[in-house]
Amino acid sequence: MNEQHDLVYLVSPGGTMGGEIRVPGDKSMSHRSIMLGSLAEGTCTVEGFLEGEDSLCTLQAFRDMGVKIEGPTAGKLVIHGVGLHGLKAPAAPLYLGNSGTSMRLLSGLLAGQSFATVLTGDSSLSRRPMNRVANPLRSMGAVIDLEAGGLAPLRITPAALHGIDYEMPVASAQVKSCILLASLYAEGESRIVEPAPCRDHTERMLRGFGYEVQTHGNEISIKGGGSLKACHIDVPADISSAAFFLVGASICPGADLVLRHVGINPTRIGVINILRMMGADIEIVREYVAGGEPVADLRVRHAPLRGIHIPEDQVPLAIDEFPVLFVAAACAEGETVLSGAEELRVKESDRIQAMADGLAVLGVEHEVRPDGIAIQGMAGRPLGKGTVNSHGDHRIAMAFTIAALQASGPIEILDCNNVATSFPGFASLVRSCGMSLEEKS
Ligand code: S3P
Repeated sequence: MNEQHDLVYLVSPGGTMGGEIRVPGDKSMSHRSIMLGSLAEGTCTVEGFLEGEDSLCTLQAFRDMGVKIEGPTAGKLVIHGVGLHGLKAPAAPLYLGNSGTSMRLLSGLLAGQSFATVLTGDSSLSRRPMNRVANPLRSMGAVIDLEAGGLAPLRITPAALHGIDYEMPVASAQVKSCILLASLYAEGESRIVEPAPCRDHTERMLRGFGYEVQTHGNEISIKGGGSLKACHIDVPADISSAAFFLVGASICPGADLVLRHVGINPTRIGVINILRMMGADIEIVREYVAGGEPVADLRVRHAPLRGIHIPEDQVPLAIDEFPVLFVAAACAEGETVLSGAEELRVKESDRIQAMADGLAVLGVEHEVRPDGIAIQGMAGRPLGKGTVNSHGDHRIAMAFTIAALQASGPIEILDCNNVATSFPGFASLVRSCGMSLEEKS
């Protein structure tokens, strides 16, 4: 697979954030809709599916395992489920691109199949830790080989699985979901304990497919041997994509923006909680339930932000939003301190270091720590300008795009191709809100 690293964003300083927009569908739910829809009995329909490279990798993987999937057409899919035991051996390794969610969730789902599989990914995914899924899966009886250092490719050999009693060492929804999916194929019951609440889309969606999952506090239990019944899934807009606009409007004088149909699952709203603690003006205009998930329209207007010590219990609830929250901190009055966030170092890039390097280019004082960062806000003074490297990380590229709203000159952002993994149409959407962004290769 040829990876592209040649896309450059040239973002003019200033601009506005206004209008009414709907950002693309939730990435986590899009992955899970393909996985559970494929394993269901009957035909499942999906709307709001994210047509980004990550979720399309999951879609292709299931096509490669014999599932007939129509679409996506304008976010709509029809999945002809094959049942829990209906997948077929793929002819070649499954290539999962940049997508950690695809690789970690699929490892669990495939560990209990009657055929062998190999999971591969791009250079970033091939550097990310996979023992966090391989170890608990092996305790369930799975046979999985990794490269030295616990890295992909993953080689999965058929094995009989049994339930597990597992206390997760890290608050990771990918690890939790991996074990839940393996548990569908395991004999007996599995019990998973999470150290802190993390996104619960797998549990909710399994229930939507009629599969019993029990939750008591931070303990989740599930029994193997059931079946999934096809249903309809309405995927709301991704709060992780909305986050760029929540920060953008907050730091841009005069901004007034409405974000439609955003998923506000309580395990995902750390970004709203943290921005509100910083003084942001975010209003939940209309709240309703769609497909078993809380959804709302959000109105965000400019407000002066102040630095805070981010409570550690918010970290798993905002885990993907820190790159753009660092931009909010850079524009706030006073110091913002993040701790307990070492997980950021093993995302699509080392997000603490990648953001720190870019903030340094923009003249923002900061101190990097092993588990976080302290950022001195510029409060009213413009950020600097210059060239920053996203290191191929979609969320770093989009965070520095938003920083240009408060920059003194243009920001050039290198290696932006991977914005397409989670946010197709990002460049034109920020333009439609009032920013000036040129794409060059
Ligand atoms: C995800 C879980 C999170 C998140 C990722 C998507 C998921 O990862 O960062 O973007 O869909 O389960 P971790 O489980 O590693 O925290």
